[in-house]
Amino acid sequence: MYRLPELEKTRPLNAIALLTSGGDSPGMNPAVRAITRAALNQGIQVFGINRGYSGLIIGDMTELTSSDVTNIVQRGGTILKSDRCLAFKDPVVRNQAAEILKEHSIDGLIVIGGDGSLTGAHLLTQETGIPVIGLPGTIDNDVYGTDDTIGFDTAVNTALEAIDKIRDTAVSHERIFLVEVMGRDSGHIAAQVGIACGAEMIIVPEYEFKLESLCFSLANERATGKGSSGIIVVAEGPRPGLTYRLAQQLQEQGENPGVCILGHIQRGGRPTGHDRVLSSCLGASAVTYLQAGYSDIMIGMINNQISITPLQEVMEKKKSLNPQLVELAQLLHK
Ligand code: ADP
Ligand code: F6P
Repeated sequence: MYRLPELEKTRPLNAIALLTSGGDSPGMNPAVRAITRAALNQGIQVFGINRGYSGLIIGDMTELTSSDVTNIVQRGGTILKSDRCLAFKDPVVRNQAAEILKEHSIDGLIVIGGDGSLTGAHLLTQETGIPVIGLPGTIDNDVYGTDDTIGFDTAVNTALEAIDKIRDTAVSHERIFLVEVMGRDSGHIAAQVGIACGAEMIIVPEYEFKLESLCFSLANERATGKGSSGIIVVAEGPRPGLTYRLAQQLQEQGENPGVCILGHIQRGGRPTGHDRVLSSCLGASAVTYLQAGYSDIMIGMINNQISITPLQEVMEKKKSLNPQLVELAQLLHK
């Protein structure tokens, strides 16, 4: 299983701070717990910053004790709360944030969030010299430098639980259902869910989709007497309402599709065992890397090994969706 880093402690740490930012994801709480306990075990004081960068820029932080993180390993969401903070895109504001950290004698900051939050983390350390380590926390799995982000596995399993139920109705009524999963810019959730639920088709923002080919395969199925029940998994994509538009187009072609938008249900709930272990390992490793003098990196997991990637690379590179996954769903359906 995972080998945790053993590194020389070259940077003395008296106090560190941590925050969760962007869309919440199941596993953020176990990460908060792991960071807090790993640091306290080393005699390092820990400050939890409330509401992500919104709390950082006003110095809204509380010292965390071991009992503050008791009983959270199994809880979704984040006890630190999360937020989107447009003001943090301003370098002047980031400079003020660094001053606040210095006033509190914070020696290092750990940021748990998606690619936007990690971009903010990179800029903060580059501009101000505050040591910063990032952890990939988003259900979308669209962060370069890690196989899975914290929360992805739980979101996939939550979607599957719902879709397995929808399929019962789809089969009973011989009906097609379009099920929309999250993923504004990426189809990682849709691809994973699509394969695991035996979807007839997966529609993702990364690849062009042709309505005609969907109608053709539905008509073909009916012609072979297979019935026309099925699940089409749709990633929400950048423009809201895609799934309803698709349903309307299918109706115009004589189909009668049901629509289910899974929405924020995918962001909540108890983290899976996988997400709890992943976030615990990444959280503890973040403290180790901070103590070893590292900064401006994200800690991830690649091929079951803890990995580090410069935040600059995380910011610049895109984790591409494996096209084979999308094709595999269609292949296995035939
Ligand atoms: P996620 O971290 O889940 O990708 P967002 O993209 O909404 O979510 O980013 C979360 C927060 O990270 C933003 O509200 C902002 O505070 C910060 N952030 C995002 N992009 C930048 C940026 N280019 N510069 C500085 N901060 C940023
Ligand atoms: O956390 C990422 C994400 O789930 C995206 O897939 C989705 O588009 C977005 O958050 C929606 O979040 P909100 O409703 O908080 O803007």
